[in-house]
Amino acid sequence: AIDVKTLRGASGMITIDPGYKNTGSCESGITFLDGEKGILRYRGYSIEDLAEKADFLEVAYLLIFGELPSKEQLEKFDNDIKSKSHVDEDVKKILDGFPKTAHPMGVLSSLTSALIAFNPTSVNVSSEEEMYNAIVKIMAKFPVLVAWAMRKKEGLPLDYGDNNLGYVENILKMMFKKPNQEYVQNDIVVNALDQLLILHADHEQNCSTSTVRIVGSSHAGLFASLSAGISALWGPLHGGANQAVIEMLEGIKEDGGDTKKYMAKAKDKNDPFRLMGFGHRVYKNFDPRAKIIKKAADEVLGDLGVVDPILDIAKGLEKEALEDQYFVDRKLYPNVDFYSGIIYRALGIPTEMFTVMFALGRLPGWIAQWREMRLRNEPIGRPRQIYVGENLRPFKDLNKR
Ligand code: ACO
Repeated sequence: AIDVKTLRGASGMITIDPGYKNTGSCESGITFLDGEKGILRYRGYSIEDLAEKADFLEVAYLLIFGELPSKEQLEKFDNDIKSKSHVDEDVKKILDGFPKTAHPMGVLSSLTSALIAFNPTSVNVSSEEEMYNAIVKIMAKFPVLVAWAMRKKEGLPLDYGDNNLGYVENILKMMFKKPNQEYVQNDIVVNALDQLLILHADHEQNCSTSTVRIVGSSHAGLFASLSAGISALWGPLHGGANQAVIEMLEGIKEDGGDTKKYMAKAKDKNDPFRLMGFGHRVYKNFDPRAKIIKKAADEVLGDLGVVDPILDIAKGLEKEALEDQYFVDRKLYPNVDFYSGIIYRALGIPTEMFTVMFALGRLPGWIAQWREMRLRNEPIGRPRQIYVGENLRPFKDLNKR
């Protein structure tokens, strides 16, 4: 193991690695990923086992604290979260100020940041106890913000959760409960969302997680670091791809469903079009999460009796890409985002909420990475550069330029 203290102030040759394709930023004991073999493990447990046997809150505990919780530990974690689930009424006024057209990712990132003002003791945390309190607070309040971001868009009144329900059941009720209507829980929907959240819960040093770690490395608080992570996730090359995939599939459907035409566009270097949901910085083999999600998409749509022509277009694109030399040579396979949107759609979640759902799943991973970084007392993240600008030049007065 590297002693981070010995690295402090280290200097010497600077390596340039745009996009950090071959640069490690930290040592981490959270997530193991082998992109060549298509392996993903959280704290040593395979993603396949966790997706099948655990629930989201257990996985959150595992990621954050390193071990699967005992029954008592899980109960305490759940109760501590429930005790912090109130979001200040004034946060609703901030939400009121946003236009209805606001993208829910912008709303979520802003409200997560706004929570800092209402929870000042969660800002400068350093002891494990202070960290724990900040963690349960955000685990409790984040789902409320997620639900509010959707309800604002849908013009529904803002509600609080029901602490008698499990974590995921409660999220769904907060999102979908209609005024003056009885809310009926659908277990197929609960299980599907539970599994999707587990599959998104961590993915080592991706763009948003690296953002959370680097913002947190300046000792900015947890909520500020998370808010930055949400913004990083929003981009279509990262978490925003799940929205972009559905929009692309809808576009192909409206254009007559000619997948070959879009395959050709994706391969044309003069065309900016990319096959969204394909390719990954680290996986050069099947994304193991995509395999699970593809199977789940078939099951969930079948169980809910949903027929979605977009699923057939997705499968057609996948088949063609797997047989296409361009995609084979570049090792481009479907990633986690390729099929997730199809399930979100079947669950009744609006397209603009897809990346928000990703953020909800990624929350425990971001928290775990932030906590690990703080407990290891890592130095502030501060990459170097190679200067390629002008040499020293004499200043020119304004009237002479
Ligand atoms: N469609 C067509 N060509 C592609 C695609 C794609 N989706 N992805 C990569 N390529 C090509 C590139 O044009 C490049 O070709 P070249 O070698 O001829 O120049 C080659 O494959 C390598 O691609 P890079 O962009 O250099 O790979 P990088 O690791 O930087 O990017 C990324 C990975 C951003 C995921 C990319 O594959 C992509 O844009 N995919 C579509 C967006 C997407 O699905 N993002 C979600 C990723 S998963 C997640 O973040 C949760």
